[in-house]
Amino acid sequence: MSKVTVVGAGNVGATCANVLVTCGIADEVVLLDIKEGVSEGKAMDIMQTASILNINTCLKGVTNDYAATEGSDVVVITSGIPRKPGMTREELIGVNAGIVKSVTEQLLKYSPNAVIICISNPMDTMTYLIHKVSGLPKNRIIGMGGALDSARFKYNLANALNANPTEVEGIVIGGHGDTTMIPLVRYAAYRGVPATNYLDAETLNKVAADTMVGGATLTKLLGTSAWYAPGAAGAQMVKAVLHNEKKLISCSALLEGEYGESDLCIGVPAIIGRNGIEKIVEFDLNDEEKALFKKSAEAVHKTNAALNN
Ligand code: LAC
Repeated sequence: MSKVTVVGAGNVGATCANVLVTCGIADEVVLLDIKEGVSEGKAMDIMQTASILNINTCLKGVTNDYAATEGSDVVVITSGIPRKPGMTREELIGVNAGIVKSVTEQLLKYSPNAVIICISNPMDTMTYLIHKVSGLPKNRIIGMGGALDSARFKYNLANALNANPTEVEGIVIGGHGDTTMIPLVRYAAYRGVPATNYLDAETLNKVAADTMVGGATLTKLLGTSAWYAPGAAGAQMVKAVLHNEKKLISCSALLEGEYGESDLCIGVPAIIGRNGIEKIVEFDLNDEEKALFKKSAEAVHKTNAALNN
């Protein structure tokens, strides 16, 4: 029996729970929120699709009842406020740090062995905060950003190539911020053939630029932060852990010398399996990519420093 808790029944959390249920990723899912009725209502709505979609997962919505989350194998933290148009993810730190800290402490009381997946923004800094608060082994804390940014990169690449997104390779590393993420254009490929064989530099630059502001573009269109792809990317990570998939997924991981950096969480390619981050994979970066990674790490360190204010 596998059990997953999703904290936060806002758009991202509810979408993550919905994907976990409709794709049959876990046997049992608990959706928890602080607002009375919201998680219960969304869980009921989702479970009313059971006979239509042939669902075998049990989803339960609870208000702040952490005892109901007991024994979870994976917990997903989406709590906190989303950004409004014109805001950066970094501006959310003051409010969200307090929330993420308290949620982490409560979750670990009931699921001390869980793998934690962090979606709350600013995601790299919230993932780092969870490390500091919990003291858990570093493999058990995974930040979701790179999975989402890579999905957006593949979406933009597929559109430019007029290809099926599932046949396109693309990975984004670095911070989960509009100016800190690094779409690795040199490693982008279509069925194993470098994308640079098909697309000119100008097109590839646009693909990369659109990917970097992917979240901001949606926030402007929607009036709030996106949720379908962020929720699905969270569920994709849960699946990789529960099913021990050993998939290479870009995620925010605590670095201890990898990529020349330490004492921060930032997006890097990693093998995700039952133990969480099983291995950080070091890509061979060229000088330009190394310089971008260094700059990105500096920006993430700066946001982390605001945790002490
Ligand atoms: C986004 C938020 C979830 O990128 O960070 O849409």
